Amino acid sequence: MAVNYAVLLLLVLYCLLCRADKFEATNFTVSGAEDAKIGTDVLSLPRLLGTEKAELPCAIVEGDPYGRFYVSNNCTVIVARPLDWSVQSEYLLKILVGGQEDPDHHVVRIRVNVRNVLGYPPVYNKKCETPVNPRGNLSGEFLFSLSLSVEVETTEGDVFFTEKIINKPFEKWDMDDLKVIITGNDNCEVRIAAGIRNLNDLSAAAEIWYGFYRGEDGTVTLSCHAETAFIQSELSIMLLDIREFHIHGNLPYLEQLEIPIPQVLEKLQHSLFIYFLSFNVPTNSRTHYTCKLPIQHRPLSFFKDKDHSVTRLNVRHVETLTMDLSRIGCAPDRYGLLCDQNCICKNGARCHGFNGACKCTDAWQGVACDIPKPGVSAATTPSDPSDIYISANVTVHCKVHHVKATTLSLRLPNGSEIVRKNSSRLDQILLNVQPTDNGPYMCKVWDTYGKVFNATVVLDMAKCPPNRKGEFCDETCDCLRGATCDWRSGCVCPAGWTGTRCQTTCPNGTYGERCREECRCRNGASCSPSDGRCTCAAGWYGWQCDVPCPQSRHGLRCQQVCTCKNNATCHNVDGTCTCVASWTGKNCDQVEEQEQPMRPEPLLEIFVPIGSVIILAACVGAILYRKRHLCGQVEADLAQTVRPGWLSRWGKTRRHLTLGPLVGMGMFGQVIQAKLKTPAGNITVAAKAVRRRDIQCYRNFYREAAILVAVHEDQHHDNLRSNIIQLLGFINEPTHKYILMEYASNGNLLRLLRQARRQVGPQSLPRHLRYAVHIARALQELQRLALTHRDVAARNVLITAHHVAKLADFGQARDVYTAVQYVPNDKHGIEQPAKPKDNVKNEVFPLNWTALESLETGEYTCQSDVWSFGVLLWEIVTMGQEPRYHGNDQPTCQQLARTLRRGIRLRRPPKCSVEMYDVMMSCWRESPPTRPGPDEVEMKLVHLRNAMITVRETTV
Ligand SMILES: *[C@@H]1O[C@H](CO)[C@@H](O)[C@H](O)[C@H]1NC(C)=O
Ligand SMILES: *[C@@H]1O[C@H](CO)[C@@H](O)[C@H](O)[C@H]1NC(C)=O
Ligand SMILES: *[C@@H]1O[C@H](CO)[C@@H](O)[C@H](O)[C@H]1NC(C)=O
Ligand SMILES: *[C@@H]1O[C@H](CO)[C@@H](O)[C@H](O)[C@H]1NC(C)=O
Repeated sequence: MAVNYAVLLLLVLYCLLCRADKFEATNFTVSGAEDAKIGTDVLSLPRLLGTEKAELPCAIVEGDPYGRFYVSNNCTVIVARPLDWSVQSEYLLKILVGGQEDPDHHVVRIRVNVRNVLGYPPVYNKKCETPVNPRGNLSGEFLFSLSLSVEVETTEGDVFFTEKIINKPFEKWDMDDLKVIITGNDNCEVRIAAGIRNLNDLSAAAEIWYGFYRGEDGTVTLSCHAETAFIQSELSIMLLDIREFHIHGNLPYLEQLEIPIPQVLEKLQHSLFIYFLSFNVPTNSRTHYTCKLPIQHRPLSFFKDKDHSVTRLNVRHVETLTMDLSRIGCAPDRYGLLCDQNCICKNGARCHGFNGACKCTDAWQGVACDIPKPGVSAATTPSDPSDIYISANVTVHCKVHHVKATTLSLRLPNGSEIVRKNSSRLDQILLNVQPTDNGPYMCKVWDTYGKVFNATVVLDMAKCPPNRKGEFCDETCDCLRGATCDWRSGCVCPAGWTGTRCQTTCPNGTYGERCREECRCRNGASCSPSDGRCTCAAGWYGWQCDVPCPQSRHGLRCQQVCTCKNNATCHNVDGTCTCVASWTGKNCDQVEEQEQPMRPEPLLEIFVPIGSVIILAACVGAILYRKRHLCGQVEADLAQTVRPGWLSRWGKTRRHLTLGPLVGMGMFGQVIQAKLKTPAGNITVAAKAVRRRDIQCYRNFYREAAILVAVHEDQHHDNLRSNIIQLLGFINEPTHKYILMEYASNGNLLRLLRQARRQVGPQSLPRHLRYAVHIARALQELQRLALTHRDVAARNVLITAHHVAKLADFGQARDVYTAVQYVPNDKHGIEQPAKPKDNVKNEVFPLNWTALESLETGEYTCQSDVWSFGVLLWEIVTMGQEPRYHGNDQPTCQQLARTLRRGIRLRRPPKCSVEMYDVMMSCWRESPPTRPGPDEVEMKLVHLRNAMITVRETTV
């Protein structure tokens, strides 16, 4: 055996020696850029050697321990993993050409020089790190979301407010590779060039281009400024006409943008206009910018889609333009402004949202953190310095990576040393640390080759334990609103909050961090304590609320139309008219008695009423106004039941909400179970959000919020006794809009009825009748406030954990006035706002629950709610069957109205007592005033139920 080995060894030796000349002849040097893409050819051996033998087996036998390269079948060396000049700038590859058994096999040496590339690898800038969005793949297609809100005055003298949320920007735009520049210093700058081809955007861009004066630099520039005291952040959007560029050549001013214009133009050559967007990434999670527009020299004309028909908006003047930039973040493995790039970071490295730079852990290095980094790391537990305080227990760790350690040592600040042999880990516990323990802790390791590595962690303990302050750390901070506790100064409150525990909002007239900023809001406007945003009082608009409504408008957000005639001037606040000589009367039209009911024009509905607290305010106003108009029999002045300041009473912040599972999906909204953090602890709530971001959904959303606020602001309202779902608040942030309601754990009545039908059978009627009594009480509450529900049905009744029925879903029904025009024609007789894709059967419009007169006129009253209540009773008696009129399964609106006019009603269900059916029939009387009021219905139902229970008890 031994002989055989020796022979073999000799053979090999011989071979190596005899091929020695070839060694010398086959030295090659190639060079490549460090940012070479994976799969790039480094060199092709057959071509290099001048042979045609491409099918030689080749293999790297030396010089590439971490697999940076790969040799393909045809002997081409290819980049297999990312290179990094700073880690290794030269590779000496030894490649075996031809298999061992091939007599012609030989070794080729290749020196690969890696070239340094400026700006590569990308820098990981911690300052502008974006959050990781675990739901990123589902929702966040954008690193940021930008919401834009604009106030404009039209040439017709109207004031419009629109708010647009862009969280998937430029989807129709032709976009250059995003030029994101992350600089090494604290500024992270983003620069984007986007060309426009889409027709709508093009026409808008043209309007802007020709409507505003251009700056010295030849662009139309919108410059925005974030206002907070501690951050200065600029954002600018420039519009450029490409033809300008072609006429004037390379525009020098654009060079300062550092965007390679010619390349951009080549990529965006089909665009007529280009937008350049640039901003410094703000450090706040959300930043509010106020923008300055260039001077406008002619009206702008925009086309707007409104319910599928196009309307024109002629803008005389843009009063305010503000933007909110919020960080959203990509999914963990994605980066880029559109989150469309794949991260390459390996071994637990974090990937930067902007440029995909990897933040390696201690044990790894390289662009992708996939090259082992031999050495040692030093760390402490707890790792957060603020958790290391006098008297705490701290552990210092030394950990060896990718090194065979012979000796590992830890040197303490006092000079003493702890040594371990043949160990790759050392943990030193420090009990009850004192200021004398502060200082550097150095881990040092010797490997088997005698190489030394070291790493240091510095202990710098805080004075007091967390949540403690004072000279002796004997006071507790207990900061609210997520504030941090500083041992000297106590709670460091977020913007808008003050007090020792951040428990109070900034005093009137101030806002911002430490309430240092002075509000600029004029004319009785309220000022948001957190960012100083103004909520204007009636009669004013503009970002400081210093612009009076245009001549023909007045009221909240200038949404009311003045009725003054004959050149009278209209008061911007309340719309009272000051007549010119010889005219008199309220409207200066001399007809003194005839008061025209002033009805607010539904301007808000025309132009995308997406968002904004103020729109909500306007809705409350409008709804209260209309309800009084419709349920006319009530004297109470509802506008006065809502005490001022309701916005701040009901507004909550998104930070205090933790969303849970989806528990319900309606036509316009969806309901999510959630936890709300309150001073009294966490409570489970139902958070209702819009289902889609469209006008219809937002309209319903605001209507529901407004009605619930109106109900809950009423002085007689009592949450404990009320049968209307309890409002807990709402969140009205640009990208997060939720109505927060009590969580009814027993679900909706319809589901309960259907379950009971399967499980219990009809003997459960008395129990369910109890719910009908509750809803009759809810209707009384609404009647007292002169509000209508318009969709009273079992599906909209929720049952709480204590088996109390509560009326919910106020947003479902359509607007009173607009509903009128929906009535005729199509199949259901009602215009259907975009049917949901996952079909919710028969929920599109509650035709079979709707009162006769509402079908005919589209008007809803408290009596029409009583009609629907009759149908609800029918649902209860039939244990959740679907109400159908005899004969026609899917009648149109007119067909159904005709049927009802003929006196046809829902049939008496089998086993339904005559008395019970009488109650239903009384609710369905043709003439609304002859129907019983909800109080009367309640009384009858209580009697019926008592009788049932007694009968059952005597028969049992
Ligand atoms: C080839 O490379 C080897 C090792 O780097 C070196 O010793 C030798 O001189 C080189 N030969 C030629 C011809 O460059
Ligand atoms: C070698 O093969 C690769 C594909 O595996 C191919 O892209 C390349 O062009 C080939 N090179 C030569 C020199 O044939
Ligand atoms: C530190 O550890 C000691 C002993 O294990 C323990 O008695 C003491 O409470 C600890 N101190 C702190 C602040 O946790
Ligand atoms: C620790 O390592 C650094 C280089 O990584 C070296 O400059 C320094 O002298 C070392 N310190 C000690 C005490 O060995």
